[in-house]
Amino acid sequence: MKRFIVVLLSLGLVACAGVVNVKTIESEPSLWRAYKPYFRIGAAVDPQSLHTHADILVRHFNSVTPENEVKWEALQPKPDEFAYAAADELVKFARGHKMFVRGHALVWHRQTPEWVFKNNTGGPVDVQELRRRMKSHITQVMQHFGNKIDSWDVVNEAVMDDGKLRTDKEEKDDQKSPWFGVLGESYIADAFNYAHEASPRAKLFYNDYYNYIPARRDAIYQLLKQLRSKGVPVHGVGLQAHLNIRPSDDPQHQSFHQTIENLEKSIQLYASLGLEVQITELDVSVYIGGIKYNPQAFYTPLTFNPQIQAQQAERYRELFAMFRRNRAIISSVTFWGIADDNTWLSEFASGRKDFPLLFDINHKPKPAFFAVLDFK
Ligand code: XIL
Repeated sequence: MKRFIVVLLSLGLVACAGVVNVKTIESEPSLWRAYKPYFRIGAAVDPQSLHTHADILVRHFNSVTPENEVKWEALQPKPDEFAYAAADELVKFARGHKMFVRGHALVWHRQTPEWVFKNNTGGPVDVQELRRRMKSHITQVMQHFGNKIDSWDVVNEAVMDDGKLRTDKEEKDDQKSPWFGVLGESYIADAFNYAHEASPRAKLFYNDYYNYIPARRDAIYQLLKQLRSKGVPVHGVGLQAHLNIRPSDDPQHQSFHQTIENLEKSIQLYASLGLEVQITELDVSVYIGGIKYNPQAFYTPLTFNPQIQAQQAERYRELFAMFRRNRAIISSVTFWGIADDNTWLSEFASGRKDFPLLFDINHKPKPAFFAVLDFK
């Protein structure tokens, strides 16, 4: 009898858990529907997440950015050998669910194969040939996707923290831009012109990070202003917005400047040029910039406790209140990932796990999710 009751009880628990699960997903308000009067809600996706995160993706998002699959190294790993399968799968899924797609990114100093910058004998490529390669890549890729991709990050991360253009002489190797090294500043305008020629109806974006640093904000503004005044077809600016739970206390650290006010100022300044603004890679790391965490201090699902979750929710609440009051100029807000079990911020070699998104590692909505939906 006792055993019978235990079995009954556990069956009841399992059934309850099942019901609660289903009810939770179905009764969750849909993010993209709630934000329809404001702007699109996007997520960066990888092919795996179409299987593991499809429910959340379809319910809450109406825009998709392939996380790595539209980068040069993915699409043209070898000269004139294009590999579209992974990107096509993502785009097909998105379009099948009537979602918008952002193409990220055509010209960047990272995730671009070495061959692009070398000639046939292994020396540095010359100006004409690099320009030809850039044009050919942009043209073929944009024509392949046609109007299935509506917005493109044509140039990514051309500016440094001090406001100077990124060159091939930067200290760290992964900061160097061979595009600038070979072609000089003109590579930026060239990329936009080639993109417009390839796909005249596509919306063309300049995308960059740390826009809240005043020197960077102003440099990006000047760059865009100059391009526009020369008639270069730039239609929008993307702010990556990889943010932290709060700004740093260290004035030397970039995230010291990471206030809502600074971000809003950048958004409004760019919009004053007549540009469309998109938030392209939003996440809110639970770590604070400028602090060195030792492995014992790394957060885990247990130490990412209600207090820190509430703090993160407040940061998200303020951010989205600011985005909403700028809805006339912001057309889309994309998260860099879907749920905390799949975020690039947990990919670091140190093993540090992060919890920067609106859904937890079990795909349940976090306090941050409800804060984003609280329009009071
Ligand atoms: C990141 C991806 O999320 C990672 O999976 C990959 O290993 C490196 O690139 N800025 C960008 C994005 O413009 O393309 C980067 O994406 C994150 C920073």
